[in-house]
Amino acid sequence: MVGFILLADGVSGAQNLSIFDPASPSAESIRALFILVLAVTGAIFLLVEGVLIYSIIRFRPRAAARPAAGEGTEPPQVYGSMPIEIAWTAAPGLIVFLLALILTRAEYEVRVNPDNPPPGAKPLYVTVIGHQWWWEYVYEKYDGRQLGFITANELHIPVSEDGVPRPAYLTLLSADVCHSLWVPRLAGKTDLIPGRTNQMWFQSSEVDLYLGQCAEYCGTQHAHMLLRVNVDSVAQFQAWLDNQAKPAVDDIAVREGRDAFLSQSCINCHRVRGTRAKGTYAPDLTHLMSRQTLASGMVPNTRDELRKWVANPQQVKPGCLMPAFGLSERQVDLIISYLTTLN
Ligand code: CUA
Repeated sequence: MVGFILLADGVSGAQNLSIFDPASPSAESIRALFILVLAVTGAIFLLVEGVLIYSIIRFRPRAAARPAAGEGTEPPQVYGSMPIEIAWTAAPGLIVFLLALILTRAEYEVRVNPDNPPPGAKPLYVTVIGHQWWWEYVYEKYDGRQLGFITANELHIPVSEDGVPRPAYLTLLSADVCHSLWVPRLAGKTDLIPGRTNQMWFQSSEVDLYLGQCAEYCGTQHAHMLLRVNVDSVAQFQAWLDNQAKPAVDDIAVREGRDAFLSQSCINCHRVRGTRAKGTYAPDLTHLMSRQTLASGMVPNTRDELRKWVANPQQVKPGCLMPAFGLSERQVDLIISYLTTLN
């Protein structure tokens, strides 16, 4: 059935991705519109099919006594009746007009207006950049304060509670091809298009984990371009923000691992804030271990999975843009010892 999908994300088991279980105002508007249109068109379908089936059965010519034309079981024929002609032209026109009005209202309800948040709101602004095949999030501003850190694949937004709306306004960009951001329980799909800026917004009053998926074919690993939206309690969100804002931990116990990491070409693509790893092409690793998954939601972020990933990303996610660097076992161990401290 349309929109009713249960997706196993391989990390947290089956998760609810149903558009019939909305958790934000715009997803609620979309569900209400869908159900209304389905009811109206369903009623028309039943009426037309009902009359058709009734006519087929009621006026079927009997094999035994086939009546002559114009006689017997044939229904009375009506020609040139002005009132009937007007009625069945006007009725569909009226239905289409009413549906257009309701659609316009729904469009208005889901529209984004990042410059004009609701009164008393504490808005969050995030720029989302689609990459083959992961999501980059640049946290810009929250409740009037500048942020300016970058993370990947797992979005955190604060819950709206105690009458304070905390909308998250997303500015959507793409680094390469077209992608589409879709978190069914939070909003409709919006495309990320190279050379164009789109906007969307989330707002939820339910603390939960919401799963999403890239919804526009973008290359071999399109199906593995998953995303997670954590709607956190206000305190949790603040703690997460405070941690993300810090530079990477510099644990003296893993100096050797850090040097192994910094001496490899990892640093051409990845950034670890506070070190000379300043790449911008691949996910920011400053707080890598604060993420629940690796490879854009494919596998849990555990030491074992991380080791497999660093040793040979192509085995985990064939076609991804990170090559295997032919590191020795010892080099991989050292790099993992460092990366696992980045929480
Ligand atoms: Cu990105 Cu499909």
